[in-house]
Amino acid sequence: MNQQLSKNTSKQESKIVVEATNLNHSYGEGKLEKQILFDINLKLYSSEVIILKGPSGSGKTTLLTLMGGLRSAQSGSLKVFGEELVGANKDKLIQIRRNIGYIFQAHNLLKSLTARQNVQMSIELHEEISPKEAKEKSIAMLETVGLKDWINYYPDNLSGGQKQRVAIARALVSQPAMVLADEPTAALDSKSGRNVVELMQQLAKEQGCTILIVTHDDRILDVAERIIELEDGKLTRKDKSKQELISN
Ligand SMILES: Nc1ncnc2c1ncn2[C@@H]1O[C@H](COP(=O)(O)OP(=O)(O)OP(=O)(O)O)[C@@H](O)[C@H]1O
Ligand SMILES: [Mg+2]
Repeated sequence: MNQQLSKNTSKQESKIVVEATNLNHSYGEGKLEKQILFDINLKLYSSEVIILKGPSGSGKTTLLTLMGGLRSAQSGSLKVFGEELVGANKDKLIQIRRNIGYIFQAHNLLKSLTARQNVQMSIELHEEISPKEAKEKSIAMLETVGLKDWINYYPDNLSGGQKQRVAIARALVSQPAMVLADEPTAALDSKSGRNVVELMQQLAKEQGCTILIVTHDDRILDVAERIIELEDGKLTRKDKSKQELISN
């Protein structure tokens, strides 16, 4: 399934990768139920870099985790790689997750593994790649994110920004069909933040990968082809070009 998906996404320009139709989401049950996402309608295409903006608490992470199959979608429709996630079973969610690279606000590296081992771990889900190749790819990806001299360091001995770059290498190394990044540049200085998003942008072009970046960082808005915005759980100003939005 992995190979099938990446083949399809790289060959067909503007294939629909995510399609949400009247998607709603609530946390809690009964009297404590609180609706967070309202009637989300959205399409993401292959090779696109999309930025998702919006105030704290507006539902950005919730939407990202739904699209990533990390949380069960409840009502409406949410198709990822053509598979319906509303009502999907665990196996289907696991299959979907294999084709997605995740980068979160907290880097979630394993402390007992070196930078290289943390990156390599995500390739090991892909049986078609030999351990030798996995090691080489991990080293090459760490070099690409500027960590050539830190390959054998443990997370405790890396700075916040360096740890986040390891997390980015880990998400990108197996060339996923989609990367979901929640504030990937928050811990980085402006130059490394820029490098990281440009690297993601380059991957989107080369691999036909879709990249969704949640950010508050206005300095990186120009890497996106599209900027979408959530406000109180509703999408606003969707599908406007970045030029219109930046000049607003
Ligand atoms: N697991 C959860 N259980 C209950 N409520 C939650 C849960 N996760 C998030 N929420 C609530 O849902 C709303 C949206 O949260 P979410 O994390 O999606 O916002 P966000 O836009 O990512 O914010 P931020 O910019 O601060 O990261 C918030 O009111 C939050 O308190
Ligand atoms: Mg968030």
